[in-house]
Amino acid sequence: KGCKLVGCGSAVPQLQISNDDLAKIVDTSDEWISTRTGIRNRRVLTGNESLTGLATEAALKALEMAQVEPDDVDLILLCTSTPEDLFGGAPQVEPDDIQKALGCKGNPLAFDITAACSGFVLGLVSASCYIRGGGFKNVLVIGADSLSRYVDWTDRGTCILFGDAAGAVLVQACDSEEDGLFGFDLHSDGDGNRHLNAGIKENEKNHELGTNGSVLGFPPNNSSFSCIKMNGTEVFRFAVSVVPQTIEASLAKAGLDRSDIDWLLLHQANKRIIDGVATRLEVPKDRVISNLANYGNTSAASIPLALDEAVRSGKVKQGQTIATAGFGAGLTWGSAILRW
Ligand code: ACO
Repeated sequence: KGCKLVGCGSAVPQLQISNDDLAKIVDTSDEWISTRTGIRNRRVLTGNESLTGLATEAALKALEMAQVEPDDVDLILLCTSTPEDLFGGAPQVEPDDIQKALGCKGNPLAFDITAACSGFVLGLVSASCYIRGGGFKNVLVIGADSLSRYVDWTDRGTCILFGDAAGAVLVQACDSEEDGLFGFDLHSDGDGNRHLNAGIKENEKNHELGTNGSVLGFPPNNSSFSCIKMNGTEVFRFAVSVVPQTIEASLAKAGLDRSDIDWLLLHQANKRIIDGVATRLEVPKDRVISNLANYGNTSAASIPLALDEAVRSGKVKQGQTIATAGFGAGLTWGSAILRW
């Protein structure tokens, strides 16, 4: 059995924040940010916008391109580390918007995949496994994150990097000759968590309630998450070393080599990381997809957002081979070889 990508879509918030805007709140400059990262602008959720809304908009566009009715979706995978409900955001994408707006009557399985900037690649691979092993037919894979909600806006080392967005693809069951996902490689290393994390912290108010409440230290304190903490140099080193390796591993599993790559589409974290990986894999610059300058690092959304722009602009054509890789917090990383 095969599975192929039949539609994509994306959505970004309205508010754009430029490097010059950031220079008004932290000690930085457009020159520093653009030369060290390649980022010039990013979008940030405000007002009535929500991550669920962005995810839904991206999903609807993917369904429209695929010409698949919402009723025919049997699995929704929401790849996110910033859901709007602790228990997972995927079910809200389904009934509140897609089902209601389009009259979808089924209750497809919907759940979250949390793996930071590797989330979308894990989602794609999971979709293929559900299709090949579980009889699923139409799987919506959505990458959506709002890291702006977890950024310390006084920390110039991190606040310049991230933006909010959503992207989606529809993965569909097909005959094996049409297979569009044919090699993947996934990893994690919890030891590297110290280099990039947003760990749990105690909520001050509930801490008081907790300690006043009982000599036994019960009830337990409620918690929230701290802002993103990152050792950028270590994360940079990690990315440029593991990404070429994982792509080589996926190519080998697919029975392909570097010369078969039509497009290199990496998680959009830093231009220097993307350029470094392309150089190591000997992929020419004009075969690299990147829209990092406009959106910054949008975590699990970055790959489907860049894919959607490249497909809609006519850059990526049907039948072309894409090597994609995600990497980030966890630490997690992984790659997949796709045919559009
Ligand atoms: N503006 C001006 N100066 C700055 C800024 C800023 N925004 N940020 C840091 N600096 C300063 C530092 O304070 C330091 O000054 P010092 O030499 O006086 O101490 C100097 O610039 C160099 O700092 P470095 O951190 O060494 O700069 P580096 O060249 O490593 O660039 C960066 C930092 C851009 C963060 C880089 O390390 C990077 O991109 N790393 C990868 C990060 C990444 O991709 N993370 C996302 C992973 S995805 C996920 O899962 C969330």
